[in-house]
Amino acid sequence: MSSTSSKSARLSELLEAEEERYRASHPRSLTLAGQAAKSLLNGVPMSWMTHWATPFPLFMQRAKGARLWDVDGNEYIDFCLGDTGAMAGHSPPAAAEAISRRAAMGITAILPTEDAVVVGEELTRRFGLPMWQIVMTATDANRFALRLARHVTGRPKVLVFNWCYHGTVDETLAVLDSDRRVARRPGVVGPTQPAGETTRVVEFNDVDALERELAHGDVACVIAEPALTNIGIILPDPGFHEALRALTRAAGTLLLIDETHTICAGPGGMTAELGLEPDMLVVGKAIGGGMPAAAYGMTEAVARVAAEAVEEPELNISGIGGTLSGNALAVAAVRATLSRTLRVEDFERMIPLAERWEAGVRAAIEECGLQWSVTRLGCRAEYWPASGDRTAAEAAAMSDDEATSYLHLHALNRNVLLTPFHNMALMCPDTTPDDVDRHTSVFREALGNVASVR
Ligand SMILES: Cc1ncc(COP(=O)(O)O)c(C=O)c1O
Repeated sequence: MSSTSSKSARLSELLEAEEERYRASHPRSLTLAGQAAKSLLNGVPMSWMTHWATPFPLFMQRAKGARLWDVDGNEYIDFCLGDTGAMAGHSPPAAAEAISRRAAMGITAILPTEDAVVVGEELTRRFGLPMWQIVMTATDANRFALRLARHVTGRPKVLVFNWCYHGTVDETLAVLDSDRRVARRPGVVGPTQPAGETTRVVEFNDVDALERELAHGDVACVIAEPALTNIGIILPDPGFHEALRALTRAAGTLLLIDETHTICAGPGGMTAELGLEPDMLVVGKAIGGGMPAAAYGMTEAVARVAAEAVEEPELNISGIGGTLSGNALAVAAVRATLSRTLRVEDFERMIPLAERWEAGVRAAIEECGLQWSVTRLGCRAEYWPASGDRTAAEAAAMSDDEATSYLHLHALNRNVLLTPFHNMALMCPDTTPDDVDRHTSVFREALGNVASVR
């Protein structure tokens, strides 16, 4: 056996030992997983739930603040926080109270409630755009916003950044292949048409490529996270956002900023932090305090055309819908969440914790001598098995699934949850410095083991 393959075998052994430890400490989850497999596809209500590093799903019993308990009574420090859905902490008291109050008074009626007025005003205050719609998920919000962008501009295509993620929106599930041609993102099932027919793709921070692709004159909308957060974290270069705005304006292309994850930068996301001026903005996940809710906002100019389009007399012909969108329960949850959490004072607590997490992870990486990196954005931080100076294409090529699965499962077996399909940690208002230090010590031990076999 070569030394490379014997090292890889040693990592597999480490992973197997963690799987064994997980099996031994999660008997009730194992029983439920067996039962669930008989009626739920892959044994889970939503396929992503199989993407944890565990050999079978971990069944949650309850969660509160930064803590989560499984059905076997194990208690965890939760840095996953529902992959941002619970960024305000699990069951934040204000939202939980508003949800139970509203649930007793009528949940959905396709009629607005007074809460919606407050929510619209608060979204404007945070993100600057004057007009809003409330829907169930960020995927829906992006899908509807892109449809409106095509309607407003009369153009067919959207432009995305390589390895972006904006939900299960067909046009955005596109990447650059090894020949730098637009291709369907690997793994997408049932695509409607070749990705190049709907989508242009450029590398984030590549201003020349952006200018070249916009020059075709067929792009209705650039949809962008202000920093990429779904291929590790890739921050914008100085001047990138100014160039993005100037080039889209010059090309007559609308700019849609998706703040669904980057609201981790502050109460108004990076849009408020950097003074961005998008034509449309989407924010989802965290704003409902755990309830499914998302919103999309627009300028007066976009709103004028949009209002006419969706006021057509024929029902449902706009292609924008959702019977339960804007329902009274979700809107009550958004009102409570935005009024009582994710405020300046909450970020003042959360961001220093993420700085502490980042510093601990960086020190451990340096000690182990691996060429890994850690990047932070507000109260969110993520490590990656590659240097910090990388494009999204390079990041995708450099992932190390076996090592990161081991790190995730090793942490989980020591009562620390990280986000599956990311190496990401999010701080909520209930996270403590001790929680962060616990992660650092667990991470240092596991990374040392990885370094010894890499
Ligand atoms: C930036 C961004 N936008 C949109 C979405 C879609 O959110 P949802 O799955 O809640 O529709 C995601 C999901 O991870 C995301 O990361």
